[in-house]
Amino acid sequence: MPSGDVLYLACAAMAPRLRAVQAAGLAALDAGAAPWQAPPEPPEAMLERLRGGIAALLDGDSGAIAAVPSASYGLATAARNLPLDAGDVVLVLEGQFPSNLLPWQQRCAERGARLVGVQRGEGGDWTAAVLAALESGPLPRIVALPQVRWDDGALLDLDRIAPRVHDIGAALVLDLSQSLGALPADLARWRPDFAVSVGYKWLLGPVGLAWLWCAPHWRTLGLAIEQHWSARDAGDGWRFPLDDAPLYRAGALRFDAGGLDDPVRLAMAAAGVAQVAAWGVAAIADALGERTRALDAALDAQGLSRWKTPGHAPHITALRPPADQLDAVFAAFQRERIVCTRRYGLLRIAPHLHVEVEDMARVAAVAAAATC
Ligand SMILES: Cc1ncc(COP(=O)(O)O)c(C=O)c1O
Repeated sequence: MPSGDVLYLACAAMAPRLRAVQAAGLAALDAGAAPWQAPPEPPEAMLERLRGGIAALLDGDSGAIAAVPSASYGLATAARNLPLDAGDVVLVLEGQFPSNLLPWQQRCAERGARLVGVQRGEGGDWTAAVLAALESGPLPRIVALPQVRWDDGALLDLDRIAPRVHDIGAALVLDLSQSLGALPADLARWRPDFAVSVGYKWLLGPVGLAWLWCAPHWRTLGLAIEQHWSARDAGDGWRFPLDDAPLYRAGALRFDAGGLDDPVRLAMAAAGVAQVAAWGVAAIADALGERTRALDAALDAQGLSRWKTPGHAPHITALRPPADQLDAVFAAFQRERIVCTRRYGLLRIAPHLHVEVEDMARVAAVAAAATC
């Protein structure tokens, strides 16, 4: 969409709307204006195609994927299913996104279990902090983590963390909302019980359609948090028997939420995922890494090295200006139409491919000029 001279760096909040996504949504909206005509593609077929596209970004198994309306819905499903007893511990990060906190708070309260939050490690090293907590703290029963911090883009090394979680016999739950579509996800290596992602950030789709990946065990034994008819295998039957519900559909489809057969959302999501696949996740990560590295280099050149976030992901970082300069820097960004997210003393910078590498020097220069 036309953006004038805006430099949009808030993709961790909401993806920029691709023309292809907008066009797909509008076409589906138009088609829906004549509901007496058969749609170009039935919503069920669109959903299955999309499930395949999401699976291709994970482990290739579309039977592992459930469609849900939000990350928190998927995480509530995980919390509902994973065993937790009185006195058990659930390990999370201090300040991790509430969708991956509230379900655990509620589940802990229900079961008499305890939530433990890992604090930010020395120099912002969350991987070392999680590994230390697994070594020295009470052994958790469940470890619920992101791959990338939502607030400053700090990266967690799941290649190192996941094996330790499995060594101690804990369940692993991943919120990939700030990474799926921008960073490769190695589920075969991490072996989580559940993993979720929203669709409207790095998957370039609309709000209201998110994805839940489930380990094989939960695809046969898991309980959904709602009982929607579309998750049942009833053939063409719409009158369900009174005594026994039809069996769940195979795989993770038992966790499919109701109300997601909206052709507009499905068409937009499919267009976003198709573009991610066409670019390739590794290539996206490389290209966005080039942009955030350019920002770090430009901050160094401006004498603002201390503003950098150490260990950030390729696609998200945050400026950390001194508290007394934050207002001035943010105001200068607004004047210059540089759009980023301001939270907790941080200015989160999350570019996508519409951003040129050279734009990053301008961001650092505007920041530096605001402090003079
Ligand atoms: C890490 C993370 N998880 C989840 C979400 C959104 O979750 P939900 O779909 O539950 O609103 C966000 C939104 O910013 C996020 O940053």
